[in-house]
Amino acid sequence: MNNDSSVVVRPARGLRGSVRLPGDKSISHRYAMLGAIAQGTTKLENFSTGADCASTLGCVRSLGAQWERNNGSVVIQGCGPNLQAPKSPLDCGNSGSTIRMLSGILAGQEFRSELIGDESLSKRPMARIITPLSAMGAKIESQDGGRPPLQIIGGNLKAIDYTMPVASAQVKTSLLFAGLYAQGETRVTESIRTRDHGEVALRAFGAELKHDGNTVKINGGQKLHGIEAAIPGDLSSAAFFLCAAALFPGSQLSIPALLMNPTRARLLDLLISLGVGISVTQLEETNGELIGTVQIEGRTLKALTIAGADTAAVIDEVPVLAAIAPYTSEGIEIRDARELRVKESDRIAAVATNLRAMGAEVEEREDGLKIPGNQKLHGAEIDSFGDHRIAMAFAVAALRAEGETKIDKSDAAVISYPAFYDTLEGVLQR
Ligand code: S3P
Repeated sequence: MNNDSSVVVRPARGLRGSVRLPGDKSISHRYAMLGAIAQGTTKLENFSTGADCASTLGCVRSLGAQWERNNGSVVIQGCGPNLQAPKSPLDCGNSGSTIRMLSGILAGQEFRSELIGDESLSKRPMARIITPLSAMGAKIESQDGGRPPLQIIGGNLKAIDYTMPVASAQVKTSLLFAGLYAQGETRVTESIRTRDHGEVALRAFGAELKHDGNTVKINGGQKLHGIEAAIPGDLSSAAFFLCAAALFPGSQLSIPALLMNPTRARLLDLLISLGVGISVTQLEETNGELIGTVQIEGRTLKALTIAGADTAAVIDEVPVLAAIAPYTSEGIEIRDARELRVKESDRIAAVATNLRAMGAEVEEREDGLKIPGNQKLHGAEIDSFGDHRIAMAFAVAALRAEGETKIDKSDAAVISYPAFYDTLEGVLQR
């Protein structure tokens, strides 16, 4: 990322038009990893354009899986379950998904590998995967009590029955991937439901999984086969456009082929309760994932409280929801969001700092934010803290501020959505 990058965002009057999103980041990671350990070829259309998924592709190539990339398509030649020992450390860049989920696969490989990341990733907690993967038999070393770099020596895994202490789809997926290599039936229980793309993807690649309440079970030794798939548009990237359109009564925006997986689409319900007009048409299923065309109409925004399971369901969308909160009539309260403090940046602090820079009143709490409504914001100099979702959230907040907003380290958007600023500009009305 270029630390000297910046963009200036000018106020807008509304949004109009149609936006097609690059493929979902969560699904792209999983398909790339499973494509690498499947037998045969995996052909993916609309693969995520973000740097995070490029990190995953780089890692699987170092592990022996060849691929070719052409515009939106990625074709991966699967190696089958046994990958090759990498010749150098596997660089996960900024991507928590890459390091945590790939660790599940590496836990099953009988060689030593090292996973490294950038400055932000090197501070993020990995004990959440180290503890259960070690219980399965992997040998994992880390820094400072559970930070990257990670050294993994895998092989000889045995199944475990694990209840996750943190609500995390990355951890769940990591353990299910490791479960493919374990003797016996691995069981993962979650008390708060997280996104199920890992389960859906494993089934698409031919694995059998069983569900029992909040527990998902997978038997070791299953073989995967390559798939052909068009990856649904990224709902978390769409959130920036949905929230931007929501800011202007009368805005009309359409988003075709968007991911509508029920474990992700809670955002739409929350926007509806905030007052936004949303309709979904052309719902269909593709490789177990739902897609649809979302039509959004801006209306007056009221109030919203996000707490408990809802917070986990929209964890990546909280920054942009918080960034539009001052423009609602009654404000937005976010609770149970402590996890946001250990994302690519401390997102609670980053949102509070930047909203204040724009003149907003904000109450920052250990596990959330309370942002009163009916506030007038002014343009300011914003720090993305090198975090893609903070950069994009404040590009949205800037659209209704008075005067121009400069976003420093705006380049962070490349992590999930390199074309974000240009695409936004294309649907703005001034
Ligand atoms: C993701 C899960 C979430 C999310 C991340 C992607 C995934 O992280 O914040 O952007 O693809 O499974 P956690 O699993 O840490 O909640």
